[in-house]
Amino acid sequence: MTAPLMIAVDGPAASGKGTIATRLGEIYGLPVLDSGLLYRAVGVLLVRQGGRPDDAAAATAIAEGLAAEDLDDPAFRTRQAGEYASQVAVHSAVRLALRDLQQGFARRPDGAVIDGRDIGTVIAPDAPVKLYVTARPEVRAERRFRQLLAQGEAVTHVDILEDILRRDARDGGRADSPMVRAKDAVLLDTSEMTIDVATDAARRIVEAARAGRGSPL
Ligand code: DC
Repeated sequence: MTAPLMIAVDGPAASGKGTIATRLGEIYGLPVLDSGLLYRAVGVLLVRQGGRPDDAAAATAIAEGLAAEDLDDPAFRTRQAGEYASQVAVHSAVRLALRDLQQGFARRPDGAVIDGRDIGTVIAPDAPVKLYVTARPEVRAERRFRQLLAQGEAVTHVDILEDILRRDARDGGRADSPMVRAKDAVLLDTSEMTIDVATDAARRIVEAARAGRGSPL
């Protein structure tokens, strides 16, 4: 019997990792978990009930009650939700509360794709395929700017670039499970790639890893 295909896709905001994870899920017929949505949900639900993202205990209580079915709210996809998510994600107790759900998903017998910041390092360190997807901050800001405009948010390019740099610094600088490329993750820089080209490169990385060949890039 072959081992389940678990694909870990990590990287910073607006690198393309979410779209790549979704497309890999389609290609290989695997369920996909966007782990950022878990942190976004915790942040939004916390603030909705009058709490603050720096309140670790209140954020943890929400994280403990969260289920994978609770992630459909469009409010979780806003610019503000991304900021709250990054803030609640610094609390170790929040990360611990969300760990079982993610690890349960990672161990599905038929395989899975999970995208996030610490999937290849902490959630599924034994994943047979790991990608670290990135792009230059200016490119990521442009992508996120267009995406938020399309969602109807009134944003400026400068604000979004600031958001991205602030989140990169917080997510990469926190003590617990910082955003970092796993030693065995293949780096995919999508700065000069369309999403179709990036998906194809990701698919080749998966194929090479499955064949035991390492990086094809
Ligand atoms: O992927 P995203 O932009 O939706 O993630 C929102 C925030 O959630 C991100 O800035 C940091 C946090 N996050 C995390 O700490 N660990 C993950 N596995 C996924 C997201």
